[in-house]
Amino acid sequence: MEKTIRKAILPAGGLGTRFLPATKASPKEMLPIVDKPMIQYAVEEAYACGIEEFVIITGKHKRAIEDHFDTAFKLEESLKKSGKSGLLEEINRLNRFHFAYIRQREALGLGHALACAAPFVKDEPFAVLLSDDIIEPGDRLLGAMMDLYQELGAPILALERVPRSEIQRYGVVSGEEGPRGVVRITGLVEKPSPEDAPSDMAIIGRYILTPDIFPELERVKPGKGGEIQLTDALSGLLEKRPIFGYIFTGKRYDAGDKVGYLKATVALALRNEQVSEQFSAYLLDVAGRLKKQ
Ligand code: G1P
Repeated sequence: MEKTIRKAILPAGGLGTRFLPATKASPKEMLPIVDKPMIQYAVEEAYACGIEEFVIITGKHKRAIEDHFDTAFKLEESLKKSGKSGLLEEINRLNRFHFAYIRQREALGLGHALACAAPFVKDEPFAVLLSDDIIEPGDRLLGAMMDLYQELGAPILALERVPRSEIQRYGVVSGEEGPRGVVRITGLVEKPSPEDAPSDMAIIGRYILTPDIFPELERVKPGKGGEIQLTDALSGLLEKRPIFGYIFTGKRYDAGDKVGYLKATVALALRNEQVSEQFSAYLLDVAGRLKKQ
């Protein structure tokens, strides 16, 4: 089997209900974090790992994603004329990526979204990135998973140990953590209650998958929330082949949740050259006022 990961799938067909009304007519994936839409962080993360082809699964009200990654001649001309070379460079950097878009007709779940990408992936392994999980730039996750895939030749899921109180928001695996944070997975369950969770190892939004997931996705019945769940398809696949997890110990922001989104905004603003100085002074001022209250 081919071992190089060349493609990444980014599901973006969800309804974004947690951010209503902001997401009534605009995609959640286009919500900005400082000066870039959420989805661009995931694209840049994958590109930094050598991935150049992106398959974005879109749905209703998602045209802005395609426009964002498209060439914008008029804008480029106008930036050129007004001598805004820094901004022009930023915009031009978007032209490095290659995209294919597939429209998911109905938001039937993550598993269903991935199944839509089958014709584009054919017989290659591929990465999946859920753009509302933002990985602190510089913390190595996808690259480490790709290295592990070279070694093991099996699907690799990114895992994070989370408090029991948060476990019902995630797919959860069972298995023993071995050296280097690698887990040989023995079972998977989507969003269990804290009492039923088999461990504290939650699946976070980075996966390296192999094409044999597609027949499983075809077979799987609607699961948690009535949706076609990737976790359930992975359970089916686990009966046929080993699947591994990789425990991430770096920083992740769950920007699919309001507080997580705000935390990601603060963290990334503090890393942003243009705003960090002013913004950190402002935060210290706010913190001082909160303390006095
Ligand atoms: C999805 C997956 C879940 C995983 C999570 C990571 O859930 O179904 O297994 O733990 O992403 O972010 P969602 O957040 O789309 O409900």
